[in-house]
Amino acid sequence: MKASISSTSHYAPEKTLTNQDLEKIIDTTDEWIKTRTGIEKRHIIGENEATSDMATNIALDLLKKSKLDAKQIELIIVCTVTPDHFAPSTAALVQNNIGASKAWGYDLSAACTGFLYGLETGAKFIESGKYNNAMIIGLDSMSTIMDYQDRNVCVLFGDGGGGAILEKSNRYGIIDSLLRMDGSGGKFLIVPGGGSRMPTTSKTIENREHFLKQDGKTIFKFAVKGMADVSEEILRKNNLSGDDIDLFIPHQANKRIIDAAAKRCGISQDKVVININEYGNTTAGTIPIAINESVISGRLCRGDILLLAAFGAGFTWGSMIIRWGN
Ligand code: UT7
Repeated sequence: MKASISSTSHYAPEKTLTNQDLEKIIDTTDEWIKTRTGIEKRHIIGENEATSDMATNIALDLLKKSKLDAKQIELIIVCTVTPDHFAPSTAALVQNNIGASKAWGYDLSAACTGFLYGLETGAKFIESGKYNNAMIIGLDSMSTIMDYQDRNVCVLFGDGGGGAILEKSNRYGIIDSLLRMDGSGGKFLIVPGGGSRMPTTSKTIENREHFLKQDGKTIFKFAVKGMADVSEEILRKNNLSGDDIDLFIPHQANKRIIDAAAKRCGISQDKVVININEYGNTTAGTIPIAINESVISGRLCRGDILLLAAFGAGFTWGSMIIRWGN
């Protein structure tokens, strides 16, 4: 028995922030951002919107598309590094908003690899036989931790995400996964302030420690190697080649990272999903957004072999192979 994805959804806020908008507030150009990253715009949450609002939209749409009633949902995992609060969990807020009165759940923090960690975790609950379903939502409100004075970071990230309902299946579902973590890379992509290491004070705010900092060059190097290595390894382990993959959905952090990973795995460009131009990097949101868009456009069909791969803060990274369908 496998855990398979029975419905998918995604959500991106209406408001957008284009490269041209950024040209007006920092020393950058549309040309630089497009050629170095592939990004043209990002979606940004509205003033009264938070991560749980986007997650609730996603959860309600998932229910609409599934045969399940809110009261039948057994587990909710929200993968995010931008929860509404430290406590309560965003999962608890979603549970209440959708009326999933029999569900339990929690938030999962694995940054850009969050959705893969979430799918793996949800799948294991189902494969144990004790659970019939799990709602996995991956999303982030990255604009809330962006320093719009730091051109090294703020051009890269946006808000949004998506989700999936996992259910039992005999024929389809997650075939294999390889998940990795190396905490020695933690310092290269970090929000230094606001946690127990450096609680918020007027000084931490003045020093802008509550914003995301990154060493872009180092992350680039590790991301290319990490994503390509783990994707090659999972293909080899399952006796597959790039030609056997029908669709490759990589985390959307930089088009150059995606191109390098696809090339190393021998996956042709026409099988690679790229939507970074529209959303930028939505952290845990990129993969579920791309999955749902591929379902809607008909690029992802029943029986297809789907390869997912991600790399992010932690460092965390991983890959997953799914036979699509339910
Ligand atoms: O999900 C994981 C999250 N993060 C990532 O995956 C990020 C991975 N890293 C990257 O994507 C790339 O390293 C960046 C896009 C962040 C930077 O690209 P790069 O080709 O590595 O550029 P660079 O850092 O080597 O900077 C080249 C130049 C520098 O100027 P000088 O020193 O050559 O004069 C930067 O100051 O580009 C400058 N620069 C910019 N110029 C215009 C840096 N950011 C900008 C900007 N606009 N926004």
